[in-house]
Amino acid sequence: MDISKKLVETHSLSKEECLELFSLFDVPESMEYIKEEAVKIRKKYYGTKVFTRGLIEFTNYCKNNCYYCGIRRDNRNIERYRLTEKEILDCCANGEKLGFRTFVLQGGEDPWYTEERIADIVRKIKKAHPDCAITLSVGEKSKETYQTWKKAGADRYLLRHETANEEHYHMLHPDSMHLSNRKKCLYELKELGYQVGAGFMVGSPGQTWEHLAEDLVFLQELQPQMVGIGPFIPHHDTRFANEKAGSVELTLKLLSVIRLLLPKALLPATTALGTLDPLGREKGLCAGANVVMPNLSPVENRKQYELYDNKICTGDEAAKCKNCLSARVRSAGYELVEDRGDYIG
Ligand code: SAM
Ligand code: FES
Repeated sequence: MDISKKLVETHSLSKEECLELFSLFDVPESMEYIKEEAVKIRKKYYGTKVFTRGLIEFTNYCKNNCYYCGIRRDNRNIERYRLTEKEILDCCANGEKLGFRTFVLQGGEDPWYTEERIADIVRKIKKAHPDCAITLSVGEKSKETYQTWKKAGADRYLLRHETANEEHYHMLHPDSMHLSNRKKCLYELKELGYQVGAGFMVGSPGQTWEHLAEDLVFLQELQPQMVGIGPFIPHHDTRFANEKAGSVELTLKLLSVIRLLLPKALLPATTALGTLDPLGREKGLCAGANVVMPNLSPVENRKQYELYDNKICTGDEAAKCKNCLSARVRSAGYELVEDRGDYIG
């Protein structure tokens, strides 16, 4: 069977088959077929609906030192900030008015935000917005901590695996970080009943086709409910400042392939895609993505959460971002809905 047909019909590929599929990435007819089938299956499960997540970047302090990331610990050239509990709750209140039914609390690994402080915030958000889902994205923690937050009311957790290849993982992270622990966290989060998001950067320094094939195999093993992929974009204050950014085209192709491997997955058209290409997010939706994540953080702090250079939407009020995205989604032939947007099981 032709490998693209196998992908479409069985929704599974081995590492070798992924590599065979990649060799078709330069063949326009094959890619057209994969993209059409990705959109077909996306429409089968989600119609033309696009879900929104209100992203609240609540701290840029981080104890980690991921080599690619602008907010990593050793970057002395950024001004650090932490939102107060009240500021976070105000972002959610504003978000609910704007129609958001999911809040994503994302931040660096900031020890000031202890297990208890985060649990407290989650409880307060849930109390004020019982119909909304809460997603946490604050890195690697113990199973006990994840459990406390689940009990407090957290519904989902985003923790990109970044790369499923051990050696590549060590190129991107200092020795204190291990792929095995990241994977352990992802499996524990799943066990605890979270909807879990894994993912990786496309075109990160040192990434090979083999690594990408291993990423796709890992996603099939983990079966996450969400997968975040976006192009790597250099940040001027990192060791990768002079590396090339990842390719928008390759990201779009991989989005279609992931849609076919995990047909019901929640796949965001990421800000990084929109940063490298003004129409990147629209193209992402047309390749199989079904989620957008506009920024709800206070405008004063947006620029300080600079993971990579030239990040978009750092100067716009949440309401403006929401309207802008709504128009973009419509122009791509989809509709933004006011819904928690849970995984459909
Ligand atoms: N601390 C949490 C964690 O590590 O999961 C959440 C915040 S972290 C900054 C969110 C994501 O940003 C990472 O998973 C990474 O893939 C992405 N990111 C960081 N630096 C990037 C860069 N230079 N280009 C593209 N994406 C980047
Ligand atoms: Fe923020 Fe368009 S999504 S301005």
